[in-house]
Amino acid sequence: MSSADGQQREKFPEGFLWGVATAAYQIEGAPAEDGKGPSVWDTFSHTPGRITRGDTGDIACDSYHRVDDDLALLSALSVGAYRFSISWPRIQPDGRGTVNQAGIGYYSRLVDGLLERGIAPVVTLYHWDLPQALQDKGGWAAREVAELFAEYASAVASALGDRVRRWITLNEPQVVASQGYRTGTHAPGITDPAQAAAATHHLLLAHGRAVPAIRASSPPAAAPGAAPVEVGITLNLTQVRPADPASEADRELAAGLDAELNGTFLEPLLRGRYPALLRRERTPDPGVVAEGDFAVIGAPIDFLGVNYYSPRIVAVRRDGDLRRGESPLEGWPGAASVRPDGMPVTAMGWLSDPEGLFELLLRLRDEAPGLPLYITENGMACYDYVSPEGRVADGERIDYLHGHLRAARRAIREGASLRGYFAWSLMDNFEWAHGYSKRFGLVFTDYGTGRRIPKDSAGWYAEVARTSSIPAGEAAGPA
Ligand code: FCB
Repeated sequence: MSSADGQQREKFPEGFLWGVATAAYQIEGAPAEDGKGPSVWDTFSHTPGRITRGDTGDIACDSYHRVDDDLALLSALSVGAYRFSISWPRIQPDGRGTVNQAGIGYYSRLVDGLLERGIAPVVTLYHWDLPQALQDKGGWAAREVAELFAEYASAVASALGDRVRRWITLNEPQVVASQGYRTGTHAPGITDPAQAAAATHHLLLAHGRAVPAIRASSPPAAAPGAAPVEVGITLNLTQVRPADPASEADRELAAGLDAELNGTFLEPLLRGRYPALLRRERTPDPGVVAEGDFAVIGAPIDFLGVNYYSPRIVAVRRDGDLRRGESPLEGWPGAASVRPDGMPVTAMGWLSDPEGLFELLLRLRDEAPGLPLYITENGMACYDYVSPEGRVADGERIDYLHGHLRAARRAIREGASLRGYFAWSLMDNFEWAHGYSKRFGLVFTDYGTGRRIPKDSAGWYAEVARTSSIPAGEAAGPA
């Protein structure tokens, strides 16, 4: 097909869903308004030394007060869906019991605004902002939290489920467990491998309990003929490769890291067990895993959300043997992360490699045949700035998105059940431990004023979403 300007374009399948994503703590601000309780991220960001330059999410993009601005941006992007998350402590300030109607009201207005504009809400119930009151009782290392999560999920589904038909239980439980409880670089900042392994299991259990709870609590659809309720989970998945495929040691290392990063979550969800290759200290203790847990965790899901940013390329290296472009692999003594010559890195220092997404989608095609997939996050941080002419010329981001969408299109042709794509992110926002220093948005956020300035990539992506197609060939948008 060719577009108005005569450019050749490659179509995506009928019904492919185009969206953008955000998360509550990263955009909302208003940390104590209308009855909201504190979350672990409020506590963590206010702890000196935790976040770059002491940034906090107190104001962020001020989305709590700027619903109309966000809706206008979404309309201009021509997206068919918006993935946002709900802040648990806005709904239950203490993480349990009575529902705070003001919190529900905020999300209800957002949902109505989306539906008026023909944009489907895709709601993540947990994007890392655990009520602090539950952390005080042990957080995800405590089994009770899994139960409480299902109660919270039910409460939200019964309030919004007549209009929200697509739910994501958890975002990236791997990051929650490893960075929150083992390396301590994220909230709640704990550095205890046993708690991290317990948290892994309880996150999976929370997901498994929430799936039927959401279905059971969702009222009939408000709109006639609306789609049935769909429930899934979002995992951060990566393609792990040995730096030297001929080296058995590198291959073993890659298989071990793959088990840890991907298998820890995929295998319990799809096969009812932890991976055989998972190292002992990363495997939840037999005391933590109760009988019947895997049956709960394996509750059938309607789709799998995939967050993909970067592949991992690893090599066995004796200490002191690191070569150019290599850095120590965190948590793996004697191993290195490798940056192959010529492979670009983003402002996060992450490798950019669309081929990794292609390989990952084919792997999921084979490991979970027929399970619908959504890319629920993909995007890059760039060194964005507003030029004197008022423009943000983020050609690298356009190239990144284009390359990854081309890979996604190719994977669909090869049989991957990919149903939609969400760019991360709608706008620049609070990037966790990096605070405001990393910009992932299609829209530039001027934090001092809250002004939102669409970058070049926003115009490019709007055309993609509007036409459900990408430019054919290598050439991307404006440089
Ligand atoms: C993912 C998170 C998301 C965002 C991107 C860059 O791990 O889910 O909130 O921070 O990384």
